[in-house]
Amino acid sequence: MNKGLTVLGIETSCDETAVAIVAERPRPTVRINLIRSQLAEHLPYGGVVPEIAARAHLDHVADLLRRALAEAETTIASLDGIAAAAGPGLIGGLIVGSTAAKGLAWAAQKPFVAVNHLEAHALAVRLETRVEFPYLLLLVSGGHTQLLACRGVGRYRLLGTSRDDAAGEAFDKSAKLLGLGFPGGPAIERAAREGDPRRFPLPRPLRGRPGCDFSFSGLKTAVRQIAADLDARAGPMGPHDVADLAAAVERAICDTLLDRTANAVAWFRRHHPDGTSLVAAGGVAANCRLRARLAALAADAGLAFVAPPPALCTDNGAMIAWAGLERLRLGLSDGLDAPVRPRWPLDDEAA
Ligand code: KG4
Ligand code: ZN
Repeated sequence: MNKGLTVLGIETSCDETAVAIVAERPRPTVRINLIRSQLAEHLPYGGVVPEIAARAHLDHVADLLRRALAEAETTIASLDGIAAAAGPGLIGGLIVGSTAAKGLAWAAQKPFVAVNHLEAHALAVRLETRVEFPYLLLLVSGGHTQLLACRGVGRYRLLGTSRDDAAGEAFDKSAKLLGLGFPGGPAIERAAREGDPRRFPLPRPLRGRPGCDFSFSGLKTAVRQIAADLDARAGPMGPHDVADLAAAVERAICDTLLDRTANAVAWFRRHHPDGTSLVAAGGVAANCRLRARLAALAADAGLAFVAPPPALCTDNGAMIAWAGLERLRLGLSDGLDAPVRPRWPLDDEAA
């Protein structure tokens, strides 16, 4: 019997050091999924500092690798391949992760896979759910907001992208203005539960326009203005103000995402009548209200809505291992001279 592939994946493209092992049989399974957040290291600076990130990855990646193998009760020799995120992302971290993976691959004579971090987000859904190509993907993370037609591994067509900030950035920057800390998405989602989204009017950039592009920078300016006005009239914001403004931000970002995704759904149904699913991925896809609204949009269009569980939406090693596995089973791997790519679009033609 074919025992299927088992692949180790390393994620170091931003501020989490993550190592995971996934297996293909008897069904796709996460055998171990370790993640070390660098939140504490970056906290004093109010954002991710690339140099600090690279050093922290270097300090922790070997330990995570040892723990992953030990806790999964396996050895490098029994793996079928080693994958690392090779881009897009912060170059120092990418070098640390891919060099570690290449070193292991070379020492154990295993194939190495240079994984595109965006492709890993795009394929993560297939780890726990059987979703066939083609599917429509809303990829929403801290660095990217894209609508893509996923036609196969390595075959993506970009339908639209953000002209300025990513959706996750809009959450993070708004949260900072509200004094809610980092990462902003979960903090806004929590604060918004008690808030009234109708009290503060916020813009919905590009709403009603044709196409699938996004814009979020106007939102941040509007939030700053409302916060400043409140402050001038009544002093520092109280918890009610923060909750109402958080609810307004979450509603505005969701409205914008939904409006653009509806256009993409119409395109997808015209061009891929065989497609059956709308998929959401990336950190922002962990948001419960966004998931509920996308599910309703998909249902109206006769599509299934599928998203990875929240822990596989935000950055993790399992999605890197899984993307490596999907490539390996198609016979795709990379040389040990494969470069890291701080910029690496999924759709080369659109780029
Ligand atoms: O995919 P990810 O972990 O890292 C990148 O590749 O960027 O996405 C991180 C982003 C952050 O901006 C964070 O605020 C956002 O995802 N995020 C959320 C939620 N959880 C994470 N945004 C909204 N609601 C959430 N529950
Ligand atoms: Zn990501």
